[in-house]
Amino acid sequence: MAYAAKDYSGLIGMEGFGETLLNNHFTLYQGYVTNTNKLLDLLASMLKEGKAGTPEYAELKRRLGFEFNGMRLHEYYFENLGGKAPLDKSGKLGKKLAEDFGSYEDWEKDFKATAAMRGIGWTILYEDGVAGRLVNQWINEHETGHLAGCVPVLVLDVFEHAFMIDYGLKRADYIEAFFKNIDWGAVESRLK
Ligand SMILES: [Fe+2]
Repeated sequence: MAYAAKDYSGLIGMEGFGETLLNNHFTLYQGYVTNTNKLLDLLASMLKEGKAGTPEYAELKRRLGFEFNGMRLHEYYFENLGGKAPLDKSGKLGKKLAEDFGSYEDWEKDFKATAAMRGIGWTILYEDGVAGRLVNQWINEHETGHLAGCVPVLVLDVFEHAFMIDYGLKRADYIEAFFKNIDWGAVESRLK
């Protein structure tokens, strides 16, 4: 079964995100879906053709982590955008953030500091499915740094394509715009 690109055009009009930037971002995302399908097909045919022991197979297999996570992380990202209401700090997520980070404010400070790190990648608030605690993590590119057993709860794209058209080098301003548009209901629904 092939993966299908989802439609996020409903996000157009979000405050702080220009239409050109969003449309470019959707196109990039669709490329990850296409390449994920292409890689899965190629790997399956190589296996059938007895080419599984080749360097080509090994490199395509490594590449899958990049394309697949590029696809899935964009889905988490777009799906945790488009919200208008701030987080209800007395709700399930608000309470858990305060419990695991000291306070909501301390969590936000750490998440934003992670997002402001130099380099391209993602900032993810994870729920550790094993121990139950929340952790902020930096992901290099799309595939390096994921925490085993953890489920993404809030996902922020900090590749330059996510903000440069609208913000130039002002990454902190983009992070602020992201925070204004978080769909906290979607985020909270990802908690176990
Ligand atoms: Fe992106």
